[in-house]
Amino acid sequence: MSSITFIGAGNMARTIGTLAVAGGNTVEIMARDQVKAEVLAKTLGGGTTAGKWGAVPAGDIVITALLYAGVVPAVEQYGDALAGKTIVDISNPFNATFDGLAHSEETSIAQEVAKVAPASASVMKAFNTIFRNVLENGRPNVFFAGDNARAKADVAEFIESLRLRPLDVGGLKMAHWLEGMGVVTMGLAGNGVGHWDFALGVDEINS
Ligand SMILES: NC(=O)c1ccc[n+]([C@@H]2O[C@H](COP(=O)([O-])OP(=O)(O)OC[C@H]3O[C@@H](n4cnc5c(N)ncnc54)[C@H](OP(=O)(O)O)[C@@H]3O)[C@@H](O)[C@H]2O)c1
Repeated sequence: MSSITFIGAGNMARTIGTLAVAGGNTVEIMARDQVKAEVLAKTLGGGTTAGKWGAVPAGDIVITALLYAGVVPAVEQYGDALAGKTIVDISNPFNATFDGLAHSEETSIAQEVAKVAPASASVMKAFNTIFRNVLENGRPNVFFAGDNARAKADVAEFIESLRLRPLDVGGLKMAHWLEGMGVVTMGLAGNGVGHWDFALGVDEINS
């Protein structure tokens, strides 16, 4: 089982945290508002602890469950406290009309995180293509990207502990396209699917 720290105490930290506790993982919550971290830790139960914002996370895997604009600044603020950690960015940097990305360049929040994280940290993108309500009620595929094989194996094991299917899409530069998949998911919710109770997945066709 894995040791996980969530930086952020919002909806995604609660949802993935609930699955993590049920999967037997060790969970810690850190938030800029210490009271919110403590309340969520208590809500999750199962020995979940609340750490102090900016301190060395207890978890080997650190999930930044923050609104996208806060992710790079938070990683910068943590600085060397994240040395050796696997940092998992789950954010969707949507533009104001939810039909494009907030950054116009071919980058991603995860790639920008890698520029400011300690050299010994491994950065990954995961979970961003799945609506929270689907994580709560379904068994969606979890796409992830990253450059470090060991970190990818650890995160895949964590995802399997949630009883979800991890799917490796390649190196960290693929995080940009995972963010694009987030945009596609929003487009489907507003158009062809018309609701939020679905997730993108992979159908393997056997001829
Ligand atoms: N909800 C979904 O269905 C979904 C699905 C896939 C991916 N995501 C991504 O997951 C991330 C979290 O989403 P969420 O639904 O959990 O959002 P949320 O419920 O609004 O929670 C956001 C968390 O981020 C913190 N935060 C926001 N700005 C911050 C900053 N500048 N510095 C430090 N902390 C900051 C908030 O702290 P305060 O309470 O103090 O404001 C809160 O703990 C987002 O990037 C989103 O794109 C969400």
